Amino acid sequence: MRRKVTVVGAGNVGANCAVWIANKQLADVVLVDVVEGVPQGKGLDLLQAGPVLGSDVLVTGANDYGPTADSDVAIVTAGFPRKPGMSRDDLLLANYEIVRQAAEQVARYSPNCVMIVVSNPLDAMCQTAYWVSKFPKNRVVGMAGILDSARFRTFIAQELKVSVENVTAVVMGGHGDTMVPIVRLSSVSGIPLTELMDQETIDRIVTRTRSGGAEIVKYLKTGSAYYAPSASAVEMAESILNDKKKVLPCAAYLEGEYGIHGLFVGVPVKLGAGGVEKIYEVKLLPEEQRMLTRSAESVRELVGVLEKKRAG
Ligand code: NAI
Ligand code: 2OP
Repeated sequence: MRRKVTVVGAGNVGANCAVWIANKQLADVVLVDVVEGVPQGKGLDLLQAGPVLGSDVLVTGANDYGPTADSDVAIVTAGFPRKPGMSRDDLLLANYEIVRQAAEQVARYSPNCVMIVVSNPLDAMCQTAYWVSKFPKNRVVGMAGILDSARFRTFIAQELKVSVENVTAVVMGGHGDTMVPIVRLSSVSGIPLTELMDQETIDRIVTRTRSGGAEIVKYLKTGSAYYAPSASAVEMAESILNDKKKVLPCAAYLEGEYGIHGLFVGVPVKLGAGGVEKIYEVKLLPEEQRMLTRSAESVRELVGVLEKKRAG
């Protein structure tokens, strides 16, 4: 049976998710957007790249969710991106309404899918999708840690002039200024980063990773990053669709892990056909745990705003 992925939002991140999925021939794709003609036009354009790419996946676009029915995975990218000077948190209320609608429709048409949330502010939007969809916690997961870790890995590889493939890095916490790159767990082919770089260089790279999104917003001026974000979301979709069980840093719903209760926060998870199949609880040093707790507190603040909105 052919597999299907719904991509909500046919903007920069959504359209590029479709491109990576088609290129890897992972599944048929239905792009959904509120703008009339855009998902249909981008879908048809990408479909016509099929003969060139050697890809037989079917890519279509729609303004309603009918054609998305029974998708295996849904990637929610609908929402406003930030502009220079804005933080991801400034998008909270506007994107809440968009993600609320999207999650409701995804749950209605694809009740058995795994939902990957990308819209910002990421961790609060995962919570929104979780509330609205009423999916079990393992079937709602957020993309941020792979992107933040990929930025960390890129900068480490550039600094050491080594292949990015040899660099592993873990970034935990919320997708914001308080994200927590765990330097102690970063290595190059098993060699700890701390043996390859002095502290000043590590600190510079950590700071650049934390502001990696803002660096791109400053260049683009009218939007935010999309190639690395879409590649990261598709790595998650691939692990789920192919039941690869990759261990990846993703936003998962925590119920006591790391001392965090009832919140989506970035942690290492196993992603397979069941969605989040395991949450890894790494033993953190006191300082790492303190940073993670602080990061979770900033996620809780945003979720608190949404809770008030839902109550009132
Ligand atoms: P974009 O503006 O290029 O695309 C967003 C699309 O969503 C637009 O085409 C818009 O028409 C559509 N949309 C708006 N309301 C909708 C609705 N109710 N239903 C369906 N579609 C709707 O923005 P871009 O660059 O694609 O970013 C999308 C979101 O992803 C933003 O919130 C951005 O901040 C976030 N993002 C998150 C990342 C992460 O690491 N979690 C990384 C990159 C982007
Ligand atoms: C990023 O980190 C916008 O959250 C997005 O690039």
